[in-house]
Amino acid sequence: DKGAHKHFMAKEIHEQPEVVGRTLAHYLDMATGRVRLPFETPFDWKDLDRLTISACGTAYIAGLIGKYWFERFARLPVEIDVASEFRYREAPLPRKGLALFISQSGETADTLASLRYAKENGQKILSVVNVPTSSIARESDVVAPTLAGPEIGVASTKAFTCQLTVLACLAVAAGLERGTLSEAEGLRLVTELIAAPGLIAEALKHEHAIEHVARDISKVTDVLYLGRGTSYPMALEGALKLKEISYIHAEAYAAGELKHGPIALIDETMPVIVIAPRDAIYEKTVSNMQEVAARGGRIVLISDEHAAAESGLAGLETVVMPNMGPDFAPIVYAVPVQLLAYYAAVALGKDVDQPRNLAKSVTVE
Ligand code: F6R
Repeated sequence: DKGAHKHFMAKEIHEQPEVVGRTLAHYLDMATGRVRLPFETPFDWKDLDRLTISACGTAYIAGLIGKYWFERFARLPVEIDVASEFRYREAPLPRKGLALFISQSGETADTLASLRYAKENGQKILSVVNVPTSSIARESDVVAPTLAGPEIGVASTKAFTCQLTVLACLAVAAGLERGTLSEAEGLRLVTELIAAPGLIAEALKHEHAIEHVARDISKVTDVLYLGRGTSYPMALEGALKLKEISYIHAEAYAAGELKHGPIALIDETMPVIVIAPRDAIYEKTVSNMQEVAARGGRIVLISDEHAAAESGLAGLETVVMPNMGPDFAPIVYAVPVQLLAYYAAVALGKDVDQPRNLAKSVTVE
């Protein structure tokens, strides 16, 4: 049932404050503001030299963001690859290592094959899945559930933000266990996580402004997404979502890679969507925006209300996001990224919930 919404995708985007809140409540003790994982770990975070992550599509992008968090909070090196490569790469894996798999359906053939490879190679298996009865869940040593509820729209939305939520909680838990986060830092991060559902709801209030931008985007043939840090994978997610439901060609680059090639594409016709919360590297992204502006490129900046002024660039089109700390920005910035793709597809009259050539669960390779 789509309720008041035209599409399941819209409904699922709007469910995010609730399902992220529910997922947080499963991993955090809301009263004390501490992480409380809902399972015993059959491994010790302190003993790990490396974490291996593998997944497909949007779940892989969640893993890319998780990498930044595990490395920053837990000083745990992460190797991550798409499952279709990982399963055949014959990657050497650490002794007594931990491998993490992320999947909404829990049935993705390549992810399941990667899991089996990791298991045969002596890894403990932790999986972040949305369907608790799935093959991936059953074959794991420990399951970290996302509580997104059934996701019907082919394009993953609420499962993605719940995956991010779980990965954030795991990374903070790992940091506290490994002693790389102090108690105080842990409490601060948990406080930020607890704020996420409210911030997602705030971001959703900008829906009409985002729809307006999306209508413009729907008229072009190519879009470039840029970001740094965790906003780089968010750029990948923006491009993936736009391609899969609106069929507009989109590419994403780490903003710093712009001058190594893609800058040649910049002209007045191709919108450049810059995802840039005001974090420690915002200034660096501003210099990339200057490079785009100097070549007549059209920029859409997704950031908070102060970002445009701080950039010093005139005439920036902005999608305004709530003021928030930068650590978990992806959980909130997912909203404009999803809505841009959604409204561009709606403007083009595409079948948003059932895009051509795609299946919800990819059980063959
Ligand atoms: C994109 C999308 C796909 C899935 C991918 C993995 O919106 O939905 O890229 O994320 O097929 O699926 P799961 O998470 O079921 O393993």
